[in-house]
Amino acid sequence: MRPRVIAIDGPAASGKSSTAALVAHRLGWAHLDSGALYRAVTLAVLDNLGEPGALKESLAVPGSGATWPVQQIVALAEELPVRLVLVRDVFRPEVAGVDVEEPIRSDRVTRRVSEIAAIREVRHWVNVQQREAVLGHPRGVVVDGRDIGTVVFPDAPVKVFLTASPAERARRRLAQRGGRIDPDQLRREAETLAARDHADATRPVAPMKPAADALLLDTTQIDLEEQVRQVLALAREKLPG
Ligand code: CDP
Repeated sequence: MRPRVIAIDGPAASGKSSTAALVAHRLGWAHLDSGALYRAVTLAVLDNLGEPGALKESLAVPGSGATWPVQQIVALAEELPVRLVLVRDVFRPEVAGVDVEEPIRSDRVTRRVSEIAAIREVRHWVNVQQREAVLGHPRGVVVDGRDIGTVVFPDAPVKVFLTASPAERARRRLAQRGGRIDPDQLRREAETLAARDHADATRPVAPMKPAADALLLDTTQIDLEEQVRQVLALAREKLPG
């Protein structure tokens, strides 16, 4: 049987999570932000193992130049544990029993998350958590990320790949944080997003790319409500019953 999953992939700050949350809410489904799990693992690593290079006995992460104790990362995630907890139809990230939705959005985590997410063993562990979460849900789950339609749920009946221009994505990310936006900040944020997109799209394991059967949705000129409307229209067409 095909999983009851709507897969929403796309680059950083393309509106995946906001779209996924609203689509899930309208359908009465749950929302799972897979990036939150990669971020929670990254937070756990930074808090417990420190910056890469601080430990000897570590393995190089291909393409990053940095080093992380690869075997220890999954063991740490298991032990603490890092996990997803379903709270009112939203899968929230927890580390050692504490909700970490806020600290995982810090710059400290954002700077390192793509390195952690490039590690094959970490991806395998995260994928197991996602599949268990979906299997255990009685209705269906809207999952957003980078490889949901290609690797994690290749049989998902509904797949969307969201994009938006780099400038618009930078503007949205800064607006999310609040405060005034000046051109310098905008340029710096666009550069940061571009670096992360490049790392995510060029890594050897599960690189970010649209699934062959995904609807490509450029949201540069459309608002959140319209994005949600288009995803729901596709879902009504593709989902059985
Ligand atoms: O919200 P934002 O677009 O900034 O990113 P996110 O969805 O929170 O994801 C953070 C990072 O996790 C990404 O830059 C990827 O490196 C990684 N990620 C991934 O590799 N695969 C996923 N399915 C989701 C996130």
